[in-house]
Amino acid sequence: MGDRSASVQGVGLGFRLGLAEAMLEHQTPGWDFIELCPENYVGVGGRRARLLDAARERWPVVCHGLCGDLAGQAPLDHALLGAVRELLGRVGARWYSDHLCMTHIDGAEIHELVALPFNEAAARRCAARVVQVREILGVPMAIENVSAYGQMPGGEMDEVSFVRAVAEEADCQILLDVINVYVNAINFGFDPRAYIDALPLERVVQIHMAGHLREAEDLLLDTHAMPIVDPVYDLFDYTLKRLPRAVPALLERDGNFPPLAELEGEMARMARIMEASAHDRP
Ligand SMILES: [Fe+2]
Repeated sequence: MGDRSASVQGVGLGFRLGLAEAMLEHQTPGWDFIELCPENYVGVGGRRARLLDAARERWPVVCHGLCGDLAGQAPLDHALLGAVRELLGRVGARWYSDHLCMTHIDGAEIHELVALPFNEAAARRCAARVVQVREILGVPMAIENVSAYGQMPGGEMDEVSFVRAVAEEADCQILLDVINVYVNAINFGFDPRAYIDALPLERVVQIHMAGHLREAEDLLLDTHAMPIVDPVYDLFDYTLKRLPRAVPALLERDGNFPPLAELEGEMARMARIMEASAHDRP
């Protein structure tokens, strides 16, 4: 099987458990690669093992962690990371991404992407954990910017400065989640384009796109359960025109699953924007 993720490019679709069988049954899929979350596949047999084997035979795979706790305080979960390392080898992953946030509090897994106080000490601590995880996994790490709904006390810089500080301190890559930038821009009242401009874009290796829920005029929820809206496609276009090179982009759909044809329509629009942006790349 080897290293099919070396050819990860174009538009991908999250290989979520609620979509997996339909994706595998699809004869002419409108995506170029898939992304899966190792936590869903390590240490399990049966249906999930069969899905994983079938998927890696069919598409290039990138792996995206959910529970890395990159910003947490607890010791890293070495048993989990060892199993993830084995899985990365099986699917030929060339990098590993996880969220720049806490996923555990007081030792309990909370399955939430809790935001951080943005300060130098937190940035150094996160960077050290990213380096540690990278050394265990043996592949480059990409940190993902997360959505948030409140400001943590103790912050002394803005979010994008924090992401930049961690990425530069750890010398790691970035998974740029465009919907998370958009959601946070509305929730906290900043300019999403200025955020993109302030990122070290040369470190971006992959993009996420998704839909959200408008809870109120000034509160968006990052649900991944709705279609992508026009302003998010516009921000995607703005981002691509500033990236120094083409990177793969993934549609994240994690709930309220529509027929695949609907998701393929969203991916086709993403692909058109990617193709057009190639002419404007710096
Ligand atoms: Fe994401």
